[in-house]
Amino acid sequence: MTRDEQRIAAAEAAAALVEDGMVVGLGTGSTAAHFIDTLIRRVRDEGLRITAIPTSKRSDRQARDGGIRMTNFAAERAIDLTVDGADQILLGRLDLVKGLGGALLREKIVAAASKRLVIIADGSKLVDRLGGLVPIPVEVVEFGWESTAARIEKLGGTPVRRWPENSDQPFRTDGGNYILDCTFGELPDPSGLEQALSYTIGVVESGLFIGMADTALVGTDEGVKRFDKAG
Ligand code: A5P
Repeated sequence: MTRDEQRIAAAEAAAALVEDGMVVGLGTGSTAAHFIDTLIRRVRDEGLRITAIPTSKRSDRQARDGGIRMTNFAAERAIDLTVDGADQILLGRLDLVKGLGGALLREKIVAAASKRLVIIADGSKLVDRLGGLVPIPVEVVEFGWESTAARIEKLGGTPVRRWPENSDQPFRTDGGNYILDCTFGELPDPSGLEQALSYTIGVVESGLFIGMADTALVGTDEGVKRFDKAG
């Protein structure tokens, strides 16, 4: 199975959890896009009735174009189920690194408002230590970003402002902020780092999602494996 086939299998398993009448949080990224495609098919072919809240303009457009009815936080205070991808999933605790797709702030707001967060991924995303070579994306405001970056260096990170290839402009999030991709090496204490980053002036949000995911559905050559948060 290719990685993409594993992602599609995980996305389809997650779409099977969606029931009539649910408010569904829509993640961002290639795996979440497969989930949205599957939901679109269920709405079209089975008459599934749901409303959805997207975590990015991209996912919003895809869902709307496919005929999913969208809602927002003015109408809904709670989301029944959110399905999203991740860049790393810590075995056992299901702590996550997210945000390589740049949507981490909205993803965290939607995750925090969800009764259940299901993460979908291919098998390469499961790790027994977060970090390592994978940077932690940190969304920062433009003003004074260089001094914010210096504060992150004091926490032990090496921040690099995200800059798309062949672009003359740095990457900006849907909220208009910058992303600093911060390499910290293997994280002995992801929760401590998440807290330290949240106290750092200039930081809007970090891509460390601690204790938020309830379930991970991971595509593997042996089928989709389900992991529930330990404890
Ligand atoms: C988007 O900001 C990210 O958090 C994605 O959920 C994450 O990067 C996973 O993306 P893929 O499904 O494309 O690997």
